[in-house]
Amino acid sequence: MPLEQKVLLLVGGELVSSPSYTQTPVLDRNVPGACGRTHALAQFGIPSVLMADGPAGVRIQPSREGTDSTFYGTAFPIATALSSTWNPGLVYEVGCSMGEEAREYGLDMLLAPALNIQRNPLCGRNFEYYSEDPLVSGKMAAAMVAGIQSQGVGACIKHFAVNNQETNRVANQPVLSRRALYEIYLRGFELAVREASPWAVMTSYNYVNGQYASESPDLVNSLLRGVWGFDGLVMTDWFGGNDAVLQMKAGNDLLMPGRSVQYEQIMSAIRSGALSEKVIDENLAHMLKMVMKTGSFSNRAFSDTPDMAAHAAVSLQASKESVVLLKNESASLPLKKGSRLALFGNTSYDFISGGTGSGDVNEEYTVSLEQGMRNHRLRVDRALARRYKSYLAEESAKIVVDYEANPLYDFLAHPRIEELQLSGRQIRRYARRNAAAVITIGRNSGEHADRVVEDDFNLKESELSTLRYICETFHARKKPVIVILNIAGVVETASWKELPDAIVLAWHGGQESGNAVASVLCGETNPSGHLSMTFANDYFDYPGALDFPYDHGANVPEILNNVLNVRGLKYDRKNIDFTEYSEEIFVGYRGLVGEPAKVSFPFGFGLSYTDFSFSGFNVERTSDGIMTFTTDVTNTGNRAGKEVAQVYVTRPCIGRPMRELVAFAKTGELQPGCSEKLELTVTEDMLAVYEDSVNSLILHDGKYVFSIGRSCADMADTLSYSIEKAKVIAVLPELFK
Ligand code: GLC
Repeated sequence: MPLEQKVLLLVGGELVSSPSYTQTPVLDRNVPGACGRTHALAQFGIPSVLMADGPAGVRIQPSREGTDSTFYGTAFPIATALSSTWNPGLVYEVGCSMGEEAREYGLDMLLAPALNIQRNPLCGRNFEYYSEDPLVSGKMAAAMVAGIQSQGVGACIKHFAVNNQETNRVANQPVLSRRALYEIYLRGFELAVREASPWAVMTSYNYVNGQYASESPDLVNSLLRGVWGFDGLVMTDWFGGNDAVLQMKAGNDLLMPGRSVQYEQIMSAIRSGALSEKVIDENLAHMLKMVMKTGSFSNRAFSDTPDMAAHAAVSLQASKESVVLLKNESASLPLKKGSRLALFGNTSYDFISGGTGSGDVNEEYTVSLEQGMRNHRLRVDRALARRYKSYLAEESAKIVVDYEANPLYDFLAHPRIEELQLSGRQIRRYARRNAAAVITIGRNSGEHADRVVEDDFNLKESELSTLRYICETFHARKKPVIVILNIAGVVETASWKELPDAIVLAWHGGQESGNAVASVLCGETNPSGHLSMTFANDYFDYPGALDFPYDHGANVPEILNNVLNVRGLKYDRKNIDFTEYSEEIFVGYRGLVGEPAKVSFPFGFGLSYTDFSFSGFNVERTSDGIMTFTTDVTNTGNRAGKEVAQVYVTRPCIGRPMRELVAFAKTGELQPGCSEKLELTVTEDMLAVYEDSVNSLILHDGKYVFSIGRSCADMADTLSYSIEKAKVIAVLPELFK
């Protein structure tokens, strides 16, 4: 194969005809709305490979010229909601549906899952990510990859690595220790690679240790390939990085979406001897290996009519299991079927299925909470519903978008319409005629911008005053008030959680979310979700809260700079050009588990309509160091339900978090009085810690205390186990110096 054609395969298909490329680059297929394609070389039987986003479902154009057919994607629950199920088996099922949908639309690869650590609640893309904990992140990602790839479609895990903010994402330099890097920010990717072998890895925009991630031989060739044994394809994020030759040398095989300048850079470097053709051949081998797995290569037939009803059912089931019951005083929930309810909050009538940007989905419909409640025979006060819906229609009609000035408008999260303000007299009337109040608080977020504290993480004063008045009025009549959180990421809850009788966290639960939440409200579904990120009392209680652009918010010009005007590595602006990960490994619950006064709802927390007990907590360790924990979980209440058992370790080392998650498992549906024995396996690498002095993962000797419980702050039982002899689990190459 001539050199020009080799290089053409390593530069994405948006490359316009390049001065030195003697033929017209060929793209032999397309799916409108697919975000990326690679070049075809018919004479070698190499087709274009078609890729689409994203972590919550297939994102392609829903309509096409010349046909009345539609090409919607199924909007599944966002990744944060999926991880709140704590059920990798269910996430695998979601992956199967997503993979099938991608396959039937003629796509070869899904650019998902995304598994960056939710280091800070304000990261705009947290909704696309799973957790503040690397074990939850890695296990969910591995399940998603396995599900997608079981359908003959590739998964591409992203964004590798340390991409934890949107502000100045293409030029931000995270400053962190190697211990934090290995134990927190890379660990989930390692688990996903080792357990599920994704076809591809997408490097991130940002710098890692002074080099663009896509240009870092330490990150790609040495660690990802050399230590973890990854032999798949590595691609850049779209327009990521800056130097195509360094990207080739680092082992970043494919440059997406492809620009002529990259082709020229590579060709001239080879001609000058600055880049060896051997490197091109190595990268090309990864590319061709991936191509040969694809449906395009095998000319696989596809229908363009995936089973959307079946996928909607999977989305609904996942959404039901993702709902987290945060509060339920005096069993206000479940509500009796047939009871009439005053449904407050704009978002109740305009439920948010997912976040914005490349992680969005063009779904056919989203079931609102109002519709979901009606579908579950929960009567919604019609006059109040009419009032909200006419208000929303009026306010929506006032929104006029100047796409000239705001080319990214549809890609960004926008401020929600101001909440309808009802008078005291109106609220009193609805309190008289309804059995309970349900209020939805809505928040969105998305790619390209981080959230802010004021009126976003914290509730608006108008939201709080309305909530106070509704609680006062309904409680005066001894009627309950239920708050629904239809949010993309964590919000402040401590200052108001005493007001309502119940709080239901719906996250963005996909297109069927309204049905899922209503199913929980009426008791058809017993909630079994648990938090995969801490709800701290106050934004500034989060470890590292000051080391994040918490007051930066959306800045569209910067966004355009981000993509089109790559800046060199600078240290001008704290939290923008460089971000210090001062909390080190004490991310989220790791930094809060010993400080209950700073936590509103802890990591791993989730209530049920029934109760569970844990008994018989035990462990056996095999000669090769594998520890198997067992416990019996019993439903001691009067309703069927599922429980999540979490095993945490307190290591015999100084300078460690009080306890860290090392295993988790979820029961099946347990009938009242029934038990299930859970087995939870912990391997030595899960107990090892990174010691920088010897650049190794070490399993220290000493007394380990293991706790089992239903959250990081609610332990049911503990046991200790002494490891007699320290052991070197892995000596790492000297990287990220
Ligand atoms: C975006 C995102 C990435 C996405 C890609 C293609 O900038 O960072 O997650 O897959 O471009 O849309």
